[in-house]
Amino acid sequence: MKLVLLGAPGAGKGTQAQQLVDRYGIPQISTGDLLRAAVANGTELGKEANGHMKAGRLVPDELVVGLMKERLAQDDCKDGFILDGFPRTQNQAVLLEDITDLDAVVNIDVELESLVARLTGRRTCEACNAVFHMLYKPPAVADMCDACGGNLYQRSDDNEETVRSRLDTYVNNTKPLIDHYKDKGLLVEVDGNGAIADIFENICKALDTI
Ligand code: AP5
Repeated sequence: MKLVLLGAPGAGKGTQAQQLVDRYGIPQISTGDLLRAAVANGTELGKEANGHMKAGRLVPDELVVGLMKERLAQDDCKDGFILDGFPRTQNQAVLLEDITDLDAVVNIDVELESLVARLTGRRTCEACNAVFHMLYKPPAVADMCDACGGNLYQRSDDNEETVRSRLDTYVNNTKPLIDHYKDKGLLVEVDGNGAIADIFENICKALDTI
């Protein structure tokens, strides 16, 4: 299964991708995670990406597409993958078509007004990237990952000012991809408001028909 998860920042792409990994046995590829790892490792790419990410802007296409091309060439992607946060521009979508075909693009649709609360309350595991929320999906033990016991941290771009900038970036650059994939007959629309488990069930039901 070759999948793309589309949706605004905080729509639940990462949350749902982590469950889809278990169901389909294919890797989640998050450009955000790859870029944050590059920043943490102090690579040239990370240095260039850091300022854009802190400001809530997109990292230039050529950097992100190179990263994605390299990742998709790895062995664990041969039976499929879940792209989380890529593509994010029309240009990235066109370049992705040169690298691979797709089976479906799932758009997780959420009221934009609810996303500030989702993102400012998010906590992420520094060891395994599992995603929690202080109110909506709290860990069993405060600040500790349920999955691996790692420390939970707040992403530096999850403050209200940067979140608002990320939402604007989404509306201007990424939202138009919904029509792009509708035109290609690949789009699966899922309501992303409501309980995480119900949304997952709806995604699976829709994918079962493909
Ligand atoms: P990235 O890391 O991709 O961030 P994002 O797209 O802004 O998406 P998020 O990870 O914030 O949200 P999500 O949809 O995964 O939500 P989650 O499941 O965590 O990108 C970061 C930056 O990197 C970008 O700003 C850009 O600079 C750069 N970048 C990345 N990719 C790029 C690209 N392709 N091109 C250029 N630049 C790129 O959920 C959020 C919270 O809500 C969690 O706390 C979760 O527990 C909670 N939650 C989830 N579902 C529900 C629910 N149904 N109800 C209540 N709470 C919920």
